[in-house]
Amino acid sequence: MTTIADITAADHADMLGAIRSLPSQFRVGRDAAAIRREAIAARTASSPGALVVCGMGGSGVGADLLPAVFDTDVPVVGVKGYDLPSWVNEQDMVVCVSYSGNTAETLSCFAQANDSHHVTAAVITSGGKLAELAQQAEVPWVEVPGGLQPRAATGVLFGALATVASACGAVGGSDHVDDVLDECAKGVQTVVDQHPVDVDPTTLPGLVAARDLAGCVVVIYGAGATAPVAWRWKAQVNENGKLPAFANSYPELDHNEIVGWTRFAETGAKVGVVELLPPDASEAVRARFDITKDLIGESASVVLRYEATSQSKPAALFELLAHGDFVSAYLALDAGIDPSPVDRIESLKERLGGR
Ligand code: F6R
Repeated sequence: MTTIADITAADHADMLGAIRSLPSQFRVGRDAAAIRREAIAARTASSPGALVVCGMGGSGVGADLLPAVFDTDVPVVGVKGYDLPSWVNEQDMVVCVSYSGNTAETLSCFAQANDSHHVTAAVITSGGKLAELAQQAEVPWVEVPGGLQPRAATGVLFGALATVASACGAVGGSDHVDDVLDECAKGVQTVVDQHPVDVDPTTLPGLVAARDLAGCVVVIYGAGATAPVAWRWKAQVNENGKLPAFANSYPELDHNEIVGWTRFAETGAKVGVVELLPPDASEAVRARFDITKDLIGESASVVLRYEATSQSKPAALFELLAHGDFVSAYLALDAGIDPSPVDRIESLKERLGGR
C-alpha cells in the first residue's frame, strides 16, 4: 500500500508545503506592496493609460491572472520578452516582476522603461540585480521574501501585483483588493483542505488525477477567465512534473486545434486532456466543451473536467489553479522525482550568461 511517506519521499525542497502555504501568501505580498503604496501612487499619471507588467515564467503569470480575477479599470498587458511594446509612453505604468531579480528579459524591460523616461511604477522582487537597479533609479521596490521557487510564490507575487495595480489606479481601492485577495486565498484553501497530510494518499484528488495523467502529454483547455489558469497548469506540469504539456482556450481552439486531432493516432502519443470550465460559463461555452470532448475524446487516454465549487470568480479561479499545483507536484512525486528543481532552466540561464 502506498503511504504518504512514500509519496513525499522525493519532496526534498517541500513543494507540497509551499503549495499548502499559498492561502497565507496573498497577504504577505499585499503587505510588502502596501508600504510602498504612496510612493507608487505618486508616480502614477493623472489619467493612467495601460498597466504593463513585465515578467517571465512564475513571475509573469500574475500579468495574465490579474485581468481574469479583477475587473480592471485600464488595459493590463503582460510582456514576456526583452522589449517593451513601442506604444508604451509616460501615461502607462510599467511594473517589473522577477522573483529572483536576475532574469535577463525583465532587466531589459526595466532598462528600456528607464532609458526612455517611461514611468516604472514599481519593481516586485526578492532582491538581485533588479532590486539594485530600482534603488539606483529611485523606483519603489516591493520587497517580497525569497527562498521559494518563483512559481511556488504565486500568492505572494499576485498579492503584491494586485496591490501595486491598485496604487496605480488600475483595479480599484485597497479595501476592494484586500477582499478579492481574501477570496483568492479561500479558493486555494478549499483545495488544500482536500489534501490533508494524514490520510490514505490514494484518496487525494491530486494524486488520483496525477495517476490518470501518468505517462501522458498533458493538454489543458480553458475558456475566458480560465485561459490563464490553463496556462498556469501547463507551466506547472512542465516545471513540477517535468512533462510536456500544452494549453489552449475556447472558443479559439475550436477553429484550428480541433482539426489537428483528426490524425492524432499517427503521432503515437498518449495524451491526457484537462478541462477547466470557467466559473461563469455561458451555455455556448459549455456546449463547446461538451461537443469538442465528444469529437476528440476518443483520441485522449483520459479527459479530466474541473469545475470550481467556489462561488466568487477570484475564489473559483484560484481553486482551479491550486488543483493544477497539486496534480503537477504529484505527477513528479509519484514517479519518485523531486518537483522543485528546474535544472534545465538553470543550465540554460547559465549558458546564456545573462543574455
Ligand atoms: C522557477 C520558475 C521560472 C521562473 C523564471 C523567471 O520556479 O517558476 O518559471 O519564474 O525562470 O525567473 P524569475 O521568476 O526569478 O524572474
